[in-house]
Amino acid sequence: MCIRDRGRCLTDDEGRYRFTTIRPGAYPLAGRHNVWRPAHLHFSLFGTAFTQRLVTQMYFPGDPLLEHDEIIRSVRDPDARRALIATYDPAENASEWSLGYRWDVVLDGPDATWTEEGR
Ligand SMILES: [Fe+2]
Repeated sequence: MCIRDRGRCLTDDEGRYRFTTIRPGAYPLAGRHNVWRPAHLHFSLFGTAFTQRLVTQMYFPGDPLLEHDEIIRSVRDPDARRALIATYDPAENASEWSLGYRWDVVLDGPDATWTEEGR
């Protein structure tokens, strides 16, 4: 499935998903002097019911802005913070087309992915 800008997809029966997009760049926060957000993708995920919504962001490994970003730094649990950063996975690359990253999301339970509502 190829999506640009915004899109949606369903997971398969095992909860897997895949999409292709352009890797975003960093952007400056308006009204803030020299404050930049690291490259990230916004996610709004739904479980089996509309009330099971998780809003979060996925980051890319190795981004030097990660250690300066106020949002990801607000996640106090180091494991939860690490869980927001995707893993580069060459097995997911599309030859001569795109790099592949793996990012697992947990919608509920003690290992649930950090959400923006939880801040
Ligand atoms: Fe953003």
